[in-house]
Amino acid sequence: MIHIHLDTVDSTQDYAKSHVGEFVPDRITCVTADEQTKGRGRFQRKWVSPRGVNLYATFYFRIPSHTLHLVSLAQLMTYSFASLLAREGLEPKIKWPNDVLLNRKKVSGILCETVFHRDFVDIFLGIGINVNMDASALSGIELPASSLKKETGRDWEIKGLLKKLYKQFEEDLNRFKKEGFTPFHKGFEDLLILKGEQIRYFDGKKEWIGRLQSLTADGQLTLLLPDGMLHTVSSGEIRH
Ligand code: BTN
Repeated sequence: MIHIHLDTVDSTQDYAKSHVGEFVPDRITCVTADEQTKGRGRFQRKWVSPRGVNLYATFYFRIPSHTLHLVSLAQLMTYSFASLLAREGLEPKIKWPNDVLLNRKKVSGILCETVFHRDFVDIFLGIGINVNMDASALSGIELPASSLKKETGRDWEIKGLLKKLYKQFEEDLNRFKKEGFTPFHKGFEDLLILKGEQIRYFDGKKEWIGRLQSLTADGQLTLLLPDGMLHTVSSGEIRH
């Protein structure tokens, strides 16, 4: 893998975006840092990024614009990480679209940013994983959050985790490029929380109330609205 590791950076997303001209377009480039001073989450939120305890990574790659199910790339990374944790003997769950939870608490988040060109798309897929963060640092985060260490009672090796994640994601991405999200659909849906439950959903502008019905084969979410209509959404956020 092409790996750029930084001691400190504002955000690995912003670094990757401003250095994209230097990257090899047909390979995955991974930018990581020991700490981020302006770590960013979805919906303009801050991503708490203390030094040396967590994994902060942006995967950059280029993908043809006609790629099937492109809107579900972030869900693909979510699934790669969740399946890695399952192989480590843990019981991860997914809060659609891309939060990985352990014991109903968030341990990782994903931010997918894209730059469209005529024939291809530059993808900046950022993942933050709370690895060895301890309880006091976690209590500063608003959401119910946790870390791998807190849930397993042991320290995790950050470099080793990145290597495994990279390998898993690279394999999954190669399959995704050929077959889209469909091969991952069943496994992803099996890990979903709140299936069949009444939820509040925010699409970035407006909040909806509905029953979380199912996941479509391309990774989108279907909600059953109070008037009986089905509503399919590709991004946004489920609120508690
Ligand atoms: C979220 O759940 O809101 C997404 C969080 C994404 C955080 C990662 S950490 C590495 C990369 N750099 C950033 O500034 N954000 C992403």
